[in-house]
Amino acid sequence: MPKLKIVGGRRLSGEIVVDGAKNSAVALIPASILCDETVEINNVPDISDIDALEEILDYLGVKVERGKHSIVFNDTKIDNKFIPCSMSGKLRASYYFMGAILGKYKHVDMCFPGGCSIGERPINLHLKGFEKLGAVVREDDGRVIIDADELVGAEIFLDFPSVGATINIILAAVKARGKTVIDNAAKEPHVIDVCNFLNSMGACISGIGTGRIEIIGVDHLHATKHNVVPDMIEAGTYVIIASLLGKNLKVSNLDPLHIESLTSKLEEAGVNLEIGDDYISVADVGEYKGIDIKTMVYPGFPTDLQQPMTPFLVSCEGISHIEETIWENRFQNVADTIKMGASIEVSSDNKVATIYGSSKLVGKEVSATDLRGGASMVICGLIAEGETIIDNISYILRGYDDIVGKLNRVGADIKIVD
Ligand code: UD1
Repeated sequence: MPKLKIVGGRRLSGEIVVDGAKNSAVALIPASILCDETVEINNVPDISDIDALEEILDYLGVKVERGKHSIVFNDTKIDNKFIPCSMSGKLRASYYFMGAILGKYKHVDMCFPGGCSIGERPINLHLKGFEKLGAVVREDDGRVIIDADELVGAEIFLDFPSVGATINIILAAVKARGKTVIDNAAKEPHVIDVCNFLNSMGACISGIGTGRIEIIGVDHLHATKHNVVPDMIEAGTYVIIASLLGKNLKVSNLDPLHIESLTSKLEEAGVNLEIGDDYISVADVGEYKGIDIKTMVYPGFPTDLQQPMTPFLVSCEGISHIEETIWENRFQNVADTIKMGASIEVSSDNKVATIYGSSKLVGKEVSATDLRGGASMVICGLIAEGETIIDNISYILRGYDDIVGKLNRVGADIKIVD
């Protein structure tokens, strides 16, 4: 199995260009099925989660033209058959086929989604939303079968502003009869991107980016061309790296507003960031002091940046805390970070990590336990003394487009080895 080999301690200079958002692209692609004409999506990240979606589309008989960073649907008709666990289980976002196929064909039959094991990851809010729209949901040994004679707009309150449930219910509602209201909706940039994409095809969605989204159903969705919004998590990961190792390192093609929760924390720790319209750069690194972080839904500090932030906090002077409020199992990277020399304690309920800085990390053989945990180990490797080998890198390649090339081009010593 391929591994990542990193020789740490290199200062990084130049420019890292952020690609399109994984969490947006993985929704836009299933959402394209709803369109009745052709769809072109650009700025699609070249990651294995997109390969997994393409495999499902191919199985459903949808032939797409895939470029390195684009995908074109010339025909969105599907052969609406059972999607097996071997395909849906490859990624979390396969659940968007539920909303999209239900919205267009009123019948879905597929296995539960997969994804990183960062928590229980229920989809009860998605299914409850479909039921509110008039669908009947049956679950059978890991299989979900959803049927509706007709989908009719409804008032839906989400117990939690779930990204997946918000998007999935929107997908099911765009062609439903009448008005659907989603209260306590998610506000993440990728939710906004999916709404803008659907509206560009003629959908009627308002309240985009607020906690109350209204959807008036339409019968027909016409052709569109769309650019995926920049990936706020990829951007944040590289801004953290720049804070630790940058020497005139610029991270570009991002929206600084999307990661204000991160940049305000980095500045609180003492990082000197230059924040432009679409870039963030670090001229030089300094001495940083410990800070406390609590993960929240957008615009709060994103859970997906909590793990990449850990090596930063390890390098800060004094004590830092990370409180994880979204997922139950998001400190899996801590054990290997300790193995490399960090001093971290995780509370018995797995909710708070206390990080005692400023430890010097030493290269070791470690493992990517999940996507963002893997990114965290890459950062540990970049700042550590000596050689770090990271196993299970398929997790990392699911979500970071050309991470090895991007880091190498700014001076890191990182390569994939067998
Ligand atoms: C998405 C992101 C993931 C990110 C997460 C939170 C994708 C493909 N993945 O995941 O990277 O970590 O948002 O920003 O976009 N919940 C329920 N019932 C549900 C759905 C969710 O209880 O039906 C709970 C979850 O257990 C979790 C919280 O809501 O505690 C957040 O989940 P959600 O926002 O749905 O995350 P995902 O959409 O799966």
